[in-house]
Amino acid sequence: MNQQTQTMYDKMRAKLEKVVPDVELRYKAGLAAEILELKREKNAVILGHNYMEPALYYSIPDFVGDSLELSRKAAQTNKDIIVFCGVKFMAETAKILNPTKTVLLPSEKAGCSLAASITAADVRALKRKFPGVPVVSYVNTYADVKAESDICCTSSNAIAVVQSLKSDRVIFLPDEYLGGNVARELGWNIIFPEINSTAKHAKNAKEEEELNLSDLSGLRGKTMIGWRGRCEVHEKFTVKDIKAVRQQFPEVVILAHPECSPEVVAASDFSGSTGAMIRYVEQSKAPQYLLLTECAMGDNIAAANPDKEMLRLCSVRCPHMNQITLEDTLDALKLDRYIIEVPEEIRQRAYQAVERMIAIG
Ligand code: 13P
Ligand code: SF4
Repeated sequence: MNQQTQTMYDKMRAKLEKVVPDVELRYKAGLAAEILELKREKNAVILGHNYMEPALYYSIPDFVGDSLELSRKAAQTNKDIIVFCGVKFMAETAKILNPTKTVLLPSEKAGCSLAASITAADVRALKRKFPGVPVVSYVNTYADVKAESDICCTSSNAIAVVQSLKSDRVIFLPDEYLGGNVARELGWNIIFPEINSTAKHAKNAKEEEELNLSDLSGLRGKTMIGWRGRCEVHEKFTVKDIKAVRQQFPEVVILAHPECSPEVVAASDFSGSTGAMIRYVEQSKAPQYLLLTECAMGDNIAAANPDKEMLRLCSVRCPHMNQITLEDTLDALKLDRYIIEVPEEIRQRAYQAVERMIAIG
């Protein structure tokens, strides 16, 4: 082992001794040391989402965090290259905020079921159907959808973003469950218009106007207009799972990401962004927790809180986040791949939506 690998191995071992077997730690420390050397050579910064596997999470990133925290770091960096250990919409957000930098995503396959659930044409159809109603897009969307939106939000600021609009009606896209959770928290109604069979196919302006009027006249009180996108991971957690775990472990504290259904969130003890869940475990005294989110985060929290027991439901994994490995990150830096591009006209409009969100805090 050379000196850099030894230093990296010692650092990783201090955190991961009880989580990652030594044989794997040694191998991954070698990869991580190589990545750090290239990172310095190429003047790069590495951002790592909280869902990264423990050996990556605790070795190469300059910053780890949830979507909002990493957007902020991406906006602030003065490095030439941003390597985003996360999924494509996150890397795109970094490019939107920092167009002069090279943004690299280590895998081409790191998508997201929420981002794939809606197109810019869908948003335009919704805007025609509900004219003048502000559009909030979850940051888990692609740049062209952000470009059609007034403001973005993440799971950690969605409530504040909706409130900031001071409107009784808000189009909230594309996560059905995050929308449902925000509506529940604020005491709003939420509806899911049939956009494909109505506004998208309106034959003329008169027909469109009638559709608008009929939809809007049906709205009573503060109402969110939602979209039926779902996270393929969080939609799988059920109230039945929660009851079964509580029966087996009566003391357990259950944390659910707000991409879980409103029923699951209501049956849990805490709901918040990935960053908020990490802080919750750090700051509370309970001995045992269940995380309803990507399983790797349970490993990362367990490593940082050896006195606390993390139960995991690991049959549910994010196939996109799991694409990002140390091997691919090394190749990303060696081969300058995969470069994220956003057409300038789209980027400028998307920038406004992301920047408004960041300004809210
Ligand atoms: P956070 O913003 O809470 O990190 O969530 C991102 C995500 O994709 C969760 O599935
Ligand atoms: Fe997308 Fe869900 Fe994976 Fe998060 S966990 S990146 S929302 S598919």
